Amino acid sequence: MGVLIIMKFKLLILACLVCVSAAAQTSLGDMTLEEKARCVVGIERSEFPPTNKGVCARTAPFPKYGINSLVLADGSSGVRLSRREQDRATAFPSNMALASSWDTELVQKVGAAAGYEARGYDINVLLAPGMNIIRNPLCGRNFEYYSEDPVITGKMGAAFVDGVQSNGVAVSVKHFTCNNQETNRGHVNTVVGKRALRELYLKGFEICVREASPWTLMTSYNSLDGVPVQESYWLINGILRGEWGFDGLVMTDWSFVPHNTVAQIHAGNDFLTPGCADQVRDIIDGVNNGTLDMADLDRACSKVIQLGTRTWHGGSASAPDLTPGAEMSALAACEGAVLLENNGMLPLAGGKAALFGVRSYDLVAVGSGSAYVVSPHVIQINDAFRSAGISIDTELEDLYRKYVAFASADIAYNEKVKVSIGLPLLPELELRRSLIDKAADRDDYAVITLGRTAEEGIDRGLKGDYYLTDTEKTLISNICEAFHARGKKVAVVLNIAGIIETESWKHLPDAILNVWLPGQEGGAAVCDLLTGAANPSGRLAVTFPADYFDCPSALDFPYDKPEQGRNYDRTEYSEGIYVGYRYFCTKGVKVSYPFGYGLSYTSFDYSALKVRSTCKGISVSFTVTNSGPVSGREAAGVYVSAPSGGLDKPSGELKAFAKTRLLAPGESETVSVEIPASWLASFNEEAGKWQVARGQYVIHVGANVESPRLSAKIKRK
Ligand code: BGC
Repeated sequence: MGVLIIMKFKLLILACLVCVSAAAQTSLGDMTLEEKARCVVGIERSEFPPTNKGVCARTAPFPKYGINSLVLADGSSGVRLSRREQDRATAFPSNMALASSWDTELVQKVGAAAGYEARGYDINVLLAPGMNIIRNPLCGRNFEYYSEDPVITGKMGAAFVDGVQSNGVAVSVKHFTCNNQETNRGHVNTVVGKRALRELYLKGFEICVREASPWTLMTSYNSLDGVPVQESYWLINGILRGEWGFDGLVMTDWSFVPHNTVAQIHAGNDFLTPGCADQVRDIIDGVNNGTLDMADLDRACSKVIQLGTRTWHGGSASAPDLTPGAEMSALAACEGAVLLENNGMLPLAGGKAALFGVRSYDLVAVGSGSAYVVSPHVIQINDAFRSAGISIDTELEDLYRKYVAFASADIAYNEKVKVSIGLPLLPELELRRSLIDKAADRDDYAVITLGRTAEEGIDRGLKGDYYLTDTEKTLISNICEAFHARGKKVAVVLNIAGIIETESWKHLPDAILNVWLPGQEGGAAVCDLLTGAANPSGRLAVTFPADYFDCPSALDFPYDKPEQGRNYDRTEYSEGIYVGYRYFCTKGVKVSYPFGYGLSYTSFDYSALKVRSTCKGISVSFTVTNSGPVSGREAAGVYVSAPSGGLDKPSGELKAFAKTRLLAPGESETVSVEIPASWLASFNEEAGKWQVARGQYVIHVGANVESPRLSAKIKRK
């Protein structure tokens, strides 16, 4: 039934597309120059209707041509409505968490749930997903992005796009491209070699465009090799449209930074956001003085009209039902959580819990900035424990609750809240050792939750963000000492917006569970995962380095907050293609947790690896068996090592991945994946083209990039 509906919907979309160019032509032919100019520039906020719901931009309506105003709203973690309004939307786990699920079907469903809510709020375009590569741990928007790997990024992005657009709501895949730092994001000149650009920074976008046909895409603020991306004809009309066949609308990122309007349209942008009267004037002048071709303006205008025919229109009578979203959010929070350590403490055996850390009572559900979502509720860890019938230390709960109430009422904190989109973090509470000792006497185990948030426009720092604060370090060591002295165990829950340092302290607690920014149902997910009601199946889609300065991009990133110059005005990606695991594995640098790492309460055997060369590429199949005591899911990566000779290659690269269904103990699943031949290619900068190396390839299978479970060789001619 569901399949039938989806097929019908796809046919409808196809029919719409056929009519699109005809509709666009008709209106275009009648439109004046001024109307065309207004069509491709967002209307000013003062012209927004009063019912506007936290919307970021609108297109101009032209009732006489039957052209409606399209509504654009942010959507990195769900629909962003204004904090001042009554309406609420589901806060989903951040993209970093979703990617850790290694489950594209799940991400498709999250996209469908977010698209459904967007449609319910009469939104035509959801400004998501963020698809930049996680190049450095400190980028302020990493939580909005999926991975350090382009295949995970591309596949996750495609799944999300498919889900959102199945509702007749457009996405805007962003920020195209090389927006990998937030410091000086409007002006920084990113200098990237063509090979790294093609193989990493464009690849994810390419996969998403080719596989999911997003209806819109957003160009980034930064420059690439001296040319503002928004003005790059080569990137937009050349690569995106020319090479990949993108047929949707290209919009600019919110250009608070002045740009050359004529160059933006000529390069291939079809819609300028948020939009102002000066841009309309620039376009009219450009056509009149011959600097802008009418053909470019017509293209842009027809893309706006086309978008209107693709997206759903109707007008919803009431706010959407948020129940399906909550269910998806809860599931995704569990699936994306990664169990990093467990010496037998988990799943919890019962007893009374001492919940430490402000975040146990005040979870960071979503990140800040345009990804912030005002959700109907956020389930806290202490409340989830209580609902699950687990006894918790109420003296500690009382203390933390009072602290949260007191600190949230602080005037300085409230000044920060007023100017931020999202919620700034309350600082961690320092606890006296005697208080911890008393808790260790009366409770059976401890859970310490540590949190981090992040936002656009600013990168994360090293001290007290990437590295733990002194208060956090003391908290962990005092609690571990006190509980261990009494033969009791300690788990740390990480509620973080990105990669943090773990190497120096990970040996202290008995278990570490990383739930990232888990969305509004996060507390319940933590409780389910710790108690074993859910079995952790997330795997890292990024590397946790042993230290920040082990990262290949460490020095070519504004970690020291420069005011100008290197990494402020100009950032050179001198590590080339050696980003994330491509660097650590190839150069043999020890990491804290490798790409693909994650523990489970069960174990999996791999067998029967078969690889076959086909005209399309390489077919890989293998069997995964649950060899442990409880049901669980396994995420498996297929890594390819290329033959030596020719271009240098990383020791292995992820080319496909899959996640099994929930396997009962003893149950098996045969996983089959295809690696397209073109994905074996590397970009030869000198020749200016993709080249596939001939010879013997080794295919490794297993989740963790450092520990393949099976390998097989195959020759490509
Ligand atoms: C962000 C975009 C966002 C837009 C609208 C910009 O500052 O970079 O990701 O969609 O604002 O809020």
